[in-house]
Amino acid sequence: MAEPGQSSEADALARDRADPLAPYRERFLLPVGPSGEPAIYLAGQSLGLQPRTARAALEAELDAWARLGVDGWWNLARPWFTLDDSLRQPMARIVGARASEVAILNSLTVNIHLLLASFFRPTGRRRRILVAAPLFPSDRHALTSHLAQRGLNPASDLLIVGPRSGEQTVRRDDLEGAIREHAADLALVFLDGVNFATGQFHEIERLTAAGRAAGAIVGWDLAHAAGNVELSLHDWGVDVAAWCTYKYLNGGPGSVGAMFVHDRHARDASVPRFAGWWGIDPDHRFDPEGPFVPDHGAAGWKASTPSVLALAPIAASLAIFDEVGMPALRARSVALTGYLAGLLDDLPIEVITPTDPQARGAQLSLRFEGAERVLATLAAGGVVADYRAPDLVRVAPAPLYNTYREAWRLAELLREFAAAQ
Ligand SMILES: Cc1ncc(COP(=O)(O)O)c(C=O)c1O
Repeated sequence: MAEPGQSSEADALARDRADPLAPYRERFLLPVGPSGEPAIYLAGQSLGLQPRTARAALEAELDAWARLGVDGWWNLARPWFTLDDSLRQPMARIVGARASEVAILNSLTVNIHLLLASFFRPTGRRRRILVAAPLFPSDRHALTSHLAQRGLNPASDLLIVGPRSGEQTVRRDDLEGAIREHAADLALVFLDGVNFATGQFHEIERLTAAGRAAGAIVGWDLAHAAGNVELSLHDWGVDVAAWCTYKYLNGGPGSVGAMFVHDRHARDASVPRFAGWWGIDPDHRFDPEGPFVPDHGAAGWKASTPSVLALAPIAASLAIFDEVGMPALRARSVALTGYLAGLLDDLPIEVITPTDPQARGAQLSLRFEGAERVLATLAAGGVVADYRAPDLVRVAPAPLYNTYREAWRLAELLREFAAAQ
């Protein structure tokens, strides 16, 4: 419920003026709306905005390529040969990991495949994978393809725990209960940190502990969690995780993904993997006869040369995250999303995202009949949101660049839409 006075534009503007992180908005390029003014961009959960420094970072690599050709791999202040490694530490800070536990490589679904190839090792009865619904389509395809490839039956070996009838999000107790009930059958528990459809932020530490207590490997898809909520993957004991960098991490469309492998697996030579030269100690990469000895930690899962041009904008973006830090960013996110949720509370709109700020990130998912019409109304009002069939509109006030005034304006447009129905 909005506090008295909260629903005025003046109040929103006052909040923006008082906000110490408000200046960070200037670090990003905002798309232009139909009026010629900056759009109200609330689609950072899909594609984050371009940091102003991204272009210079990209141009610096293009210049190096032009000046140095192949020598750019070594003769630069930050040589291409170890550019991906140089980003591990800042990425590790975002997900609460040791640098050795993080690698920056490929893209998300490919990284999920690499992790499944290594860590989904069904034996005998212990062969099933437990997931939560709604499950992102690409994850479903990846998981079922691994089941099928090992001669298992996706129809019975993929255990899907969904919301109870009449509810929108999965209860933690139901996930824990299912993990306990199927403990002897589970090879893998594979969950999403923040759900793409509902915006629910799962209790990663507790669910990881439950999965591991059941004897399963526990993996997380953090596409909607990385750069959105505070994570402590190492301390929470997560086995493996993968995420993309084009959402809250603002790395650019199709930017390079990342993975986490807990240090407890780092030196386990028994873990099978799909190997390539980029995954061995760089000093031995060119050894023509040498065996495959994986580099320490997550780096050992890198197989091939990363795209230097795609890494450049990520480096620019990670520098901003390092300046702000996840605790301050999350604090602003909780305040901003809470403010928007308060305004929406007063409207006849169903918000399916949990109301508890600790159980959600920046995204609010709104359920409408005729959601496409709502989206069109918002677009005409200069709002970029997104639509998930059949009835969801997702909006995400990203704490690095969205404002209270934008949240207020969104609520006004939705109020007008509801009144016209
Ligand atoms: C939750 C989730 N998993 C997986 C993917 C697939 O990512 P990619 O296309 O980078 O493999 C996405 C993409 O948006 C996603 O949101």
